[in-house]
Amino acid sequence: MSNLEPITITALEHTISRCDKCSLSKSRNRTVPGEGDYNAQVMVVGEAPGSNEDKTGRPFAGRAGNLLNELLSSVGIKRSQIYITNMLKCRPPSNRDPQQTEIDSCEPYLALQISLIQPSVIITLGRFSFSNFFPGIPLSKARGIVREWNGIKILPVYHPAAALYNPGLKPKLLQDFQKITSLININESSASEQSQMADATQLSLFDGHFE
Ligand code: URA
Repeated sequence: MSNLEPITITALEHTISRCDKCSLSKSRNRTVPGEGDYNAQVMVVGEAPGSNEDKTGRPFAGRAGNLLNELLSSVGIKRSQIYITNMLKCRPPSNRDPQQTEIDSCEPYLALQISLIQPSVIITLGRFSFSNFFPGIPLSKARGIVREWNGIKILPVYHPAAALYNPGLKPKLLQDFQKITSLININESSASEQSQMADATQLSLFDGHFE
């Protein structure tokens, strides 16, 4: 993260869209920087875009994304309330595992996203995402256990794509997602929703004033 200036999230997403720091830039169709609420309390960090994401430029746009939506709604969270991104912002060919050189090239973008959004909770999906924060701990031992990282609560869970291949993992994912409810106030609307509500209130007061 050292040689990147802190900027806005939109400027960062633009920088990512032009990135050619690793060879994935040659095979990708679209970069997938991330999407969601720039003031989110919760950030979700997956592994890398797949083919749907590479086509649309949106994270978790396919079947794993549908399961992610289901897991989020099981704890009353809407996708629009959180920020979703991946370790890698470009698709590895044939969805192979990310390589360490690719992770090293892309990691400064995630570090900047975290420092700009300042989430209080990060849900890591899968082992590559978890090991970015806590290297060397097997996910099978760590899943569902909240750890503190630089003042942020990290909740590691299995990757939803793993549960598509192994349906036995789905109950574990549902169980681990329940942990989020004690970490955040899910009834609290997101900061941007609150500011939109405040703007609407101001406008309606203003309207009344001139009636
Ligand atoms: N898997 C991921 O890790 N990220 C996506 O965006 C889609 C599938």
